[in-house]
Amino acid sequence: MDRYAVFGNPIGHSKSPFIHQHFALQTAESLSYEAILAPVDSFADSWRTFVSQGGKGANVTVPFKEQAFALADVLSERAQQAGAVNTLYISSEGKLVGDNTDGIGLVQDLERLGAKLTNASILLLGAGGASRGVVGPLLQAGVAKIVIANRTVAKAQAIAKAFPASVIAASLDAIPEQPYHLVINATSSGLTNERPALASKHLIHCQLAYDMLYGAKPTAFLSWCKEHGVPVQADGLGMLVAQAAAAFTIWRGKQPNIEPVLTLLQDQLR
Ligand code: ATR
Repeated sequence: MDRYAVFGNPIGHSKSPFIHQHFALQTAESLSYEAILAPVDSFADSWRTFVSQGGKGANVTVPFKEQAFALADVLSERAQQAGAVNTLYISSEGKLVGDNTDGIGLVQDLERLGAKLTNASILLLGAGGASRGVVGPLLQAGVAKIVIANRTVAKAQAIAKAFPASVIAASLDAIPEQPYHLVINATSSGLTNERPALASKHLIHCQLAYDMLYGAKPTAFLSWCKEHGVPVQADGLGMLVAQAAAAFTIWRGKQPNIEPVLTLLQDQLR
């Protein structure tokens, strides 16, 4: 049986084994998928041990996405743009390939939610790894303009300069006044029950507010968007399932249906 895994630290909370086991059932693929707790400073050793024991591919989560990036022999364009790898596999030539499906996962989830990305203008909050990884796939999906707004503006500028002029940087208190069709929170503020400190005027034209975090309750950011009249709010659970589906497709050549797995996870959480 082909062996897959997710590497992280911590990893006990990971929903990836549940998701991939369901994908395998759905597509009648025979595989195993486990969670592996790797020591923070030796991801590479853990990966090599896994491969020596028959491992075919893996997902990589916090804090190993940059170490996986450094380890890969070959990087996909989206992994290069993201500066991080969340999906690893061995190519038919025996090379270790690093890819990143986080951005495509977000795009697929936004489309599932009915967002129109073609020519859209997006306000993207945050300038960490979560933000960097989604800019390229959003542009490829037809988004016309992305304003990356961050508390520390220099970090937003560092991301924007790697992309065309349709991507610009701003600080949270000097966001350009223009209509934003979508506002996406890629900050970690929800972990401390906070939201990024931006003015509600930027939400006036917003059709969908998205938070990449997820949990039993709406994040502080999503609750605030709802209070200020944004018609649809969504958390990052769909993105989690969609990025997993994209990884599964890379490994197995079959595209799983995300809806049934997402419904199960939503039922577990709420
Ligand atoms: P990740 O890899 O998940 O993106 P990260 O690299 O630690 O995590 O980045 C966290 C992001 O959340 C940063 O953009 C951070 O802003 P700063 O760059 O100014 O630190 C942002 N962030 C975290 N807490 C925040 C808060 N309470 N308000 C606004 N932004 C916040």
